Amino acid sequence: MTLSNVFVYIISLVSIAISTEITINNRPSVGIIRWDAWNLFNNQYDPISFYLHRALSPEKFHYRIPFYASVLSPTNISFNGDLQNVMDQEILYAKHAGIDYWAFDTYCQFGSNCTTNNTYCSQYYKQTSNLYCPRNPAYGLNLYLSSEYKSLLNFTFILLGSSPCDASFQQHYIDLMKLPQFQTVRGGRPLLYLFQFDNAEADKCGGGWLGSGQVFQKFRQMAISQGLQNPYLVLMDFDVRTVQSHASMLGFDAISTYALPGGTIDGTPFVELFNSAQRWWQSASDIGAKIVPIAPTGWDPRPRAENPVPWVDEGPEHYIQPTVEELQQLIRSGINFTCTHNQIAEAQTIIIYAWNESSETSGSLVPSMGNGTLYIDALSKILPMFC
Ligand SMILES: *[C@@H]1O[C@H](CO)[C@@H](O)[C@H](O)[C@H]1NC(C)=O
Ligand SMILES: *[C@@H]1O[C@H](CO)[C@@H](O)[C@H](O)[C@H]1NC(C)=O
Ligand SMILES: *[C@@H]1O[C@H](CO)[C@@H](O)[C@H](O)[C@H]1NC(C)=O
Ligand SMILES: *[C@@H]1O[C@H](CO)[C@@H](O)[C@H](O)[C@H]1NC(C)=O
Ligand SMILES: *[C@@H]1O[C@H](CO)[C@@H](O)[C@H](O)[C@H]1NC(C)=O
Ligand SMILES: *[C@@H]1O[C@H](CO)[C@@H](O)[C@H](O)[C@H]1NC(C)=O
Ligand SMILES: *[C@@H]1O[C@H](CO)[C@@H](O)[C@H](O)[C@H]1NC(C)=O
Repeated sequence: MTLSNVFVYIISLVSIAISTEITINNRPSVGIIRWDAWNLFNNQYDPISFYLHRALSPEKFHYRIPFYASVLSPTNISFNGDLQNVMDQEILYAKHAGIDYWAFDTYCQFGSNCTTNNTYCSQYYKQTSNLYCPRNPAYGLNLYLSSEYKSLLNFTFILLGSSPCDASFQQHYIDLMKLPQFQTVRGGRPLLYLFQFDNAEADKCGGGWLGSGQVFQKFRQMAISQGLQNPYLVLMDFDVRTVQSHASMLGFDAISTYALPGGTIDGTPFVELFNSAQRWWQSASDIGAKIVPIAPTGWDPRPRAENPVPWVDEGPEHYIQPTVEELQQLIRSGINFTCTHNQIAEAQTIIIYAWNESSETSGSLVPSMGNGTLYIDALSKILPMFC
């Protein structure tokens, strides 16, 4: 071996060591959307839970109800997820699956008869959500925060509508962003999602898109001035080009989406939803967007098609539930995309739809009456997954 050969040999050893080290260290985080509407208020179903109860009461949908709900009769179920022991168990289940964080849907709180004194919340109720007025939307978050198991799982928010533009709400988010369980990306930047933010919300927030961009810029400054790193803000919407254009006007860091609705009345094979997710990631990549890949485990709102909810109009079109292998393939593939496109998926995280949207998808991961722990067991076999 000549001296220069030895040198080349050493250099290649060093570069193998470096690339191995990068590979070993890099583990994209896995988040999952959580929708909290399984609760009581004054011993009655909360206005939102009322519709969820109605939608899932027919016998043919009982297989979807979460582990803490029970069947009373072929036409009636009961549940109360607003209990510490239920939340504690849910955290343990999510941990078992290998989930890193829950993304809590974060709504305004309304008084009786959908009253609110907050003009942003009123805008949300009238224009965005079309009558979505929970009494106690933060019960899941509060139980998580009071759980002795909270250190097992991180959290973040999916903020909705124009209300995140309210400075007092922003201070509330920042207070929670200071907790050690708040999910961060890129070396400590708190991760936040925003959804259901379109023209009407932009007008309400900052008199348009650019004005709203200034509102969120101020929010970043508020967070930084209180010792946090610059928040990593992700805008969610269904259409790739639209959400990318809105995100750039808002000065957001990346795009994603909440779910990928679709399917047919007879039920489309899950593989088509998987293909649709891959197309979403790829088209975002093609237009040069930064993304958090969405990993949709299903879409099947038939309970809501039969017993409509007032805030969204959803038909019987659906995808068939994923098998264990299909679910694993979706998550593996989402993480693989995150690894192989690490400039685009720079936050190195994916977001799964969903933990417990049980009336909107049969692919919810929360253990259920019909499918038990099938899905969380499936994920526990592939997570954690390294690049
Ligand atoms: C989803 O989970 C959250 C958090 O545990 C809980 O508050 C909510 O009631 C659940 N929603 C549904 C629809 O299961
Ligand atoms: C379901 O059962 C509860 C508890 O027994 C009862 O109060 C309620 O009226 C029932 N609802 C329906 C739609 O049967
Ligand atoms: C609105 O303000 C009134 C008067 O301050 C108060 O009594 C009421 O509880 C508030 N309602 C809500 C929903 O916050
Ligand atoms: C809510 O609406 C009902 C029916 O319209 C009415 O009887 C009740 O007084 C209202 N409650 C409040 C607090 O406004
Ligand atoms: C939660 O996030 C913190 C800060 O990003 C991180 O150090 C910790 O490992 C995370 N915990 C879990 C359970 O993922
Ligand atoms: C991971 O992504 C690369 C690049 O897109 C692709 O060639 C490879 O087949 C993928 N592997 C898996 C297991 O999906
Ligand atoms: C989930 O449970 C339902 C009802 O028992 C069943 O029809 C379905 O095949 C199960 N799904 C999977 C993926 O095993």
